[in-house]
Amino acid sequence: MVARAQNFVCQSCGAASARWAGRCDACGAWNTLVEEGAATQARGSRIGRLFVIEPLKGESLEAPRLASGVAEFDRVTGGGLVRGSVLLLGGDPGIGKSTLLIEVAAAYTRRGQRAVYISGEEAVAQVRLRAERLGLAETAVELAAETAVEDIVATLSHGKPPQLLVIDSIQTMWTQTVDSAPGTVTQVRGAAGELIRFAKRSGTAVILVGHVTKDGQIAGPRVVEHMVDAVLSFEGEGSQQFRILRAIKNRFGPTDEIGVFEMSGGGLREIANPSELFLSERDLGSPGTAVFAGIEGSRPLLVEIQALVAPTSLGTPRRAVNGWDQNRLSMVLAVLESHCGVRLSGHDVYLNVAGGLRIQEPAADLAAAAALVSSLADAPLAADAVYFGEISLSGAVRPVAQAAARLKEAQKLGFARAILPESARAEAVSEAGLSLKPVSSLANLVADIVAQPTDGGQRRTKYPRQEDG
Ligand code: TYD
Ligand code: MG
Repeated sequence: MVARAQNFVCQSCGAASARWAGRCDACGAWNTLVEEGAATQARGSRIGRLFVIEPLKGESLEAPRLASGVAEFDRVTGGGLVRGSVLLLGGDPGIGKSTLLIEVAAAYTRRGQRAVYISGEEAVAQVRLRAERLGLAETAVELAAETAVEDIVATLSHGKPPQLLVIDSIQTMWTQTVDSAPGTVTQVRGAAGELIRFAKRSGTAVILVGHVTKDGQIAGPRVVEHMVDAVLSFEGEGSQQFRILRAIKNRFGPTDEIGVFEMSGGGLREIANPSELFLSERDLGSPGTAVFAGIEGSRPLLVEIQALVAPTSLGTPRRAVNGWDQNRLSMVLAVLESHCGVRLSGHDVYLNVAGGLRIQEPAADLAAAAALVSSLADAPLAADAVYFGEISLSGAVRPVAQAAARLKEAQKLGFARAILPESARAEAVSEAGLSLKPVSSLANLVADIVAQPTDGGQRRTKYPRQEDG
């Protein structure tokens, strides 16, 4: 017998070490090392089994991708689940992962697919109760409350495998091949490995639910992120009803698409036009807000950017940002200081993207700058204007992609004017009905905002009405 080496595994990043330490060498987290039994490895020199090698240009009998019919889910997965693929859905407890997946499973059964939902956290009766509340009691979703992976795989390997298997959650699963407790990194990795093998072998698409820890990691399981084909995260702010489904990794599709849902008493409602939702709670007429005409994936999205610039009482003023990149904010502030004569070093700056959305595009620079200057100058911006454009370090406003799509969305939602990069005008000329105000430098924008303190007064009371549905 080989004496088993001690095996301490960091529960945050999955790194293993031979000795216990207070701090993980790999990721620097404190108190995360836990002793775990090692995975039992097949030892000895086994003679290799022969397998069939196929040409790349083979025939697949079935459609490789299955759409669920839940449009927002299909969009984020890149058109539906790929057969035999494994997807990890992460999110805070209570955000609505189980609700989303029971709805998706029900949608698949409505299309004649077989969907099995295994809960390791709730009893069958509880899952059934939720389904009843969602009005899905009559659908053909198959349920079980199980946590032993080998039993699940054995059961599903009987007869025709399902098209979809939901495992809620991976942290509650355990496999006999590993002798650690459920929820530890080794166990989660082992259980995920078994389920991934099942997916590849049977062609069943598997969705694993993963809980997220306080610091935003999918618990245990950064390791699992590398093993699966796609990682989605389900996000939202506790106080708000919006839920955003976002692809973090996708071997078979894009990673920049988002799906937007609203949590209601009757479950998750799909939001086909998120701009309307994100703009519905606008605080019209107050300084410091600007509407950004953005693009999320393939879809234009209008969202309000809110800024507050206030005199500071601190030696080092605060720079707090929510939903946008801190470095990007620092850059915009530096450009405002050095090229536009806007003094901000004596002010605290808060920037917030409404609706809990996270914006990654540099095209938001112009809207953020407009909101900041508007707050500092106490000059409200026109309520019927949208902003987009990237700001360079020299203070120039640079063109961004898809100007026409942004303008079209703005027009559809009743906006009357757009402040945009000079060079976008040529592309945008076809969008009649919007008055375009090209700006070539940030200094021009600042001058415009500061110079129009009163004429916003009439406009800001008027909410831009939507023209059609
Ligand atoms: P759940 O799907 O159980 O979250 P998770 O699996 O991510 O932990 O959702 C739990 C929350 O959603 C709970 O606070 C109640 C709320 N909810 C609704 O508001 N409406 C509904 O129809 C359902 C089923 C849940
Ligand atoms: Mg749940």
